[in-house]
Amino acid sequence: MRSWIHHVKGRHVRQARIGLGDLREEHISRQGFFGPVAMIYRENGPNEIVRVEGALHPRRVADTTRAEPSDMSDPRGMPEIMLSNEDVSVAISRRTAAMPYAYRSIDGDLLYFVHEGAGQFVTEFGHLLYEPGDYVLIPKGITFALMPDAGDSHMLVIESPAPLSLAEHQQVGRHMPVDPTVLVLPELHDHHWPQRDEWELRVKHGGEHSSIFYRNNPLASVGWKGDLFPYKLNIRDIIPISSDRIHLAPSAWCTFQASGFAVITFVPQIAVADMNAEELPSYHRNVDNDESVFVHHDESSSRRPGTLSHVPQGILHGADEAARAAFQKRRTPGMRRTLCGVSVDTDRRLVVSAAFERLSA
Ligand SMILES: [Fe+2]
Repeated sequence: MRSWIHHVKGRHVRQARIGLGDLREEHISRQGFFGPVAMIYRENGPNEIVRVEGALHPRRVADTTRAEPSDMSDPRGMPEIMLSNEDVSVAISRRTAAMPYAYRSIDGDLLYFVHEGAGQFVTEFGHLLYEPGDYVLIPKGITFALMPDAGDSHMLVIESPAPLSLAEHQQVGRHMPVDPTVLVLPELHDHHWPQRDEWELRVKHGGEHSSIFYRNNPLASVGWKGDLFPYKLNIRDIIPISSDRIHLAPSAWCTFQASGFAVITFVPQIAVADMNAEELPSYHRNVDNDESVFVHHDESSSRRPGTLSHVPQGILHGADEAARAAFQKRRTPGMRRTLCGVSVDTDRRLVVSAAFERLSA
C-alpha cells in the first residue's frame, strides 16, 4: 500500500531541496525514491567520515580500464564479473578478437553498453554495427557472435535472468525519453560464410558452457518476424527528462528495467538554474537499493572514464562538505551537467567480486 501520511517537526524547508540556507538536508528513502521518505535537517554535514571499522565500505571505485578479463587475450575467453546478485550481473568485456563460434545465453538477457570500440554483433537476425555509447540488447536464447574491429574494446555486460524491457515514462508522452523508432534493428545481409564441416554453437547455461556442433551455420538466416529481437540504442538518442528548478530523482532517467533492478542512463542536461535550490545530489540513504555507476565520460569533472562505483544500500552518500563548497564557488546559472554514464540499481545486495576488489581504489 502506498504511504501518504506526512508530518513535520522542527526546522525544515517548505519545498525539499530549495532554500536550505545553512541547513543540510539528508534524504532517507525506501523502495528507491518511490516509497516512504524522510528528510532530516541538520546544522552540520552528515557525511564527514573519520574512519570505518568492519566490512561495509561507504564507497568503492574500480578503475575498469585496468581490468583484464580473459576475453582480452583469448577469443574463447569471457567477460569478468564485477558485481552480481541473483537478479543481475555486471561484467567488463575487453574482447579483442571475434568469437570463433556462435554464442547463445540461456541464463538471461544480455545488455551490452559500449564504452570504447566498434565492431558488429552478427546475429541470426542480421548484423548490428556498434559504436561507443551504444546499448545492445540480446534477448535470452538469441544466437549471435561478437566481432570487434581492431583496437581497444571496452564494454559493460549486464546479464539478467528476467526479461529486460525499455522503461516507460507515461507522463511525458510516447516519444520521450526514447522515441521508439530510434531503436536500431539488425540488417539482414548476404554474408559469405566460409565452407566448414561443422559449426560450433557455444551455449551458456547455469554459468557453464557447452558446445553443440551443427552441420549448418546457426547464424545464417534469410528473414524473420515477431516481437522478440535484438536491437541497439545509442545514449545520444536518449532525451533527458529534466527540470531547471529542482534536481530530479534518478528514476526519471531509467532506461531499462527487469525484476530486481533498473538501468539508468545519465546524459548531459541542464543543471538546476535556481541558485537557491540544490544542484548536487542530496545527501541520501537509498536504503532498499544498491547503486553502481559506470562513468562513460564526464568533461568537467575528475571522474575518470571507465570507473565503476558501488554504494551498498543504506550507506549515506553524496558529495561531502568540501566538495559542495568547491562546487558552490564555480556554480553559475545556466551551467550544464556533463556526466554521461550508466547506473545499475538493484533491490538485492550486490556481491563484490575479487576482480572488483582488486581494481578498487
Ligand atoms: Fe545515490
